[in-house]
Amino acid sequence: MNPETGKTALITGASSGIGQELAKLFAQDGYNLVLVGRSDEKLDRLGDVFKSNYGIQHVTVISKDLSEEDAAQDVYSQVKAKGITIDVLVNDAGVGLYGLFATDTDWEREKSMIHLNVLALTQMTKLFLYDMLARNDGKILNLASLLSITPTPLMAVYAGTKAYVYNFTQSLVNELKDTNVTITALLPNATDTDFFNKANAENTKITDELQDPVMVAQAGYDALMSGKSKAIPGGLKNKSYELLAYIAPQEALASLMRDKMSQKPEPASEKESTVSLAWGIGFGIAVIAGIALTIGYKNASPYDQLRYRHKAKSAGDSLSNTLSSVLDTVVNSVTEAYQTTKEKAKKIGEKE
Ligand SMILES: NC(=O)c1ccc[n+]([C@@H]2O[C@H](COP(=O)([O-])OP(=O)(O)OC[C@H]3O[C@@H](n4cnc5c(N)ncnc54)[C@H](OP(=O)(O)O)[C@@H]3O)[C@@H](O)[C@H]2O)c1
Repeated sequence: MNPETGKTALITGASSGIGQELAKLFAQDGYNLVLVGRSDEKLDRLGDVFKSNYGIQHVTVISKDLSEEDAAQDVYSQVKAKGITIDVLVNDAGVGLYGLFATDTDWEREKSMIHLNVLALTQMTKLFLYDMLARNDGKILNLASLLSITPTPLMAVYAGTKAYVYNFTQSLVNELKDTNVTITALLPNATDTDFFNKANAENTKITDELQDPVMVAQAGYDALMSGKSKAIPGGLKNKSYELLAYIAPQEALASLMRDKMSQKPEPASEKESTVSLAWGIGFGIAVIAGIALTIGYKNASPYDQLRYRHKAKSAGDSLSNTLSSVLDTVVNSVTEAYQTTKEKAKKIGEKE
């Protein structure tokens, strides 16, 4: 028999990614679930899967957009009205947004992100923590991020919200230290979920190396269950990253993160690579031949020097021909690429 049968975990953001993996771990351990999110159909389906796979008794779905004013209060009231006691609260729901703060990003999306990542999480914590303290029993897991501890150009507001979550959680760790209630912050590095697509950041360099959400969720779950103050999944590499964040100057961290958040370079087309290779080889041969000719010319007799001058003129002519043919190739490639782009743009225009 599972030791946790009868306990209930409330999880926000369980419809996908890290939250879904966390929900699965609770279900495997026999927890009843309260799943909160906007996609109630998805959450209903997930609940059915958990019931049939893990034999859990109760899954309650609360349909709520947590970026709305007082959404957390409404969730709390619904839980109370159903007579459910929350033993574990997981504040996972969160979104990001990519772009230059001053000119690219949209304020309405930023406001909604601050509401979800900061206000809803804080209010959920306040309401459920009060009841946990009254029982002197309970656990809370808050989704922070490795970006909580570094300034992050191009995701400035998102990183600010996660810095808040981490700082807030660590303050509460201290406030709760003499109780049986624990609070844990989970600080994942970039993880393979839908997060970057939704944030318009799918083409950034940081997405070159993504962590497995199953591993991330397990690390968070283990830390939560053992009452640790934080978890940084991903081994020594990410832990040393934390150390770096504490000792390196903020300016240096900001430029490191600016680079990680920048767009991946466009892959060079086959034609461009061939042209640049031709240029490289041609230039190398010309330099070596030039050096050899100079040495030979200096040591030659006046008659041979005359011959060399004649040969050099012919070689110059043929080099100039070669160069102009390479230039032709370059110009043709560029013209071709321009024509193709123009045709594509015309087709898109026609479709619209
Ligand atoms: N992926 C990463 O690289 C990474 C790294 C560090 C930290 N994190 C944090 O991990 C958490 C989970 O992200 P993820 O990577 O698993 O991304 P995800 O797959 O996009 O999951 C985000 C979850 O949040 C829910 N959500 C979004 N907006 C909501 C709203 N207004 N109201 C209620 N629920 C909402 C989504 O549900 P619906 O859209 O169905 O409503 C979804 O279940 C986030 O807090 C994120 O900041 C992610």
